[in-house]
Amino acid sequence: MKGVILAGGNGTRLYPLTKVTNKHLLPIYDRPMIYYPLRTLIDSGIEEIMIVSGRGHAGHFLELLGSGTDFGVRLTYGIQEEAGGIAQALKITENFVDGDDVTVILGDNIFQDNIGEDVANFRRGAKIFLKEVPDADRFGVAELEGNKVVGIEEKPENPKSNLAVTGIYIYDPEVFEVIRTLKPSGRGELEITDVNNYYVDKMKMEYRVVKGFWTDAGTFESLMRAGILIKENKF
Ligand code: G1P
Repeated sequence: MKGVILAGGNGTRLYPLTKVTNKHLLPIYDRPMIYYPLRTLIDSGIEEIMIVSGRGHAGHFLELLGSGTDFGVRLTYGIQEEAGGIAQALKITENFVDGDDVTVILGDNIFQDNIGEDVANFRRGAKIFLKEVPDADRFGVAELEGNKVVGIEEKPENPKSNLAVTGIYIYDPEVFEVIRTLKPSGRGELEITDVNNYYVDKMKMEYRVVKGFWTDAGTFESLMRAGILIKENKF
């Protein structure tokens, strides 16, 4: 299993904090944001990790994290030339993943759960991680029937459930074929939700509801909440 951290994008919702630096290098309590998703992958047992970021700040990630020796893993860096969506960023990792399975984590997602068992037991298809939230319309939202995901909607006005699709995804190598079939969405991006709905339609999507806390950190509110959660939980 390979690991990928997606740390691109313009971070416009955090402007001017992101005027001269990348969102994922901003502090959350006592560490740069990217340390948290990196920790989640390392704690799951993954040892080969690619960090994808935009052209402007790639060197900063390299300076901060180096080869990965300090963390006991091997780090590789990929460059997303333009912000074109999560699925477009994932496409860049195809040669690195090299026919293996891949666990993808968004660089602004903070998880308390350990996903080591999910990684170790993954066989084929895809797996997403859901969390009950009060503001589902900010996220991808899963619709369940029994114990199956039957559809995912990206930021729906009227969410069909309160289960947000969090920013960890596990995929088999077919994911890169799926990305090749995608068309840009209304916001001009290749959407990870479209990738996930492919697996849903093929009945190859599994899910788990995460137990511990989860937050993104891409807005002023969530960035502050993330810091408080980490401080209070001594994470
Ligand atoms: C992205 C995904 C969304 C997911 C969220 C998790 O949204 O598109 O499906 O729920 O990450 O953080 P974004 O934060 O890029 O708008």
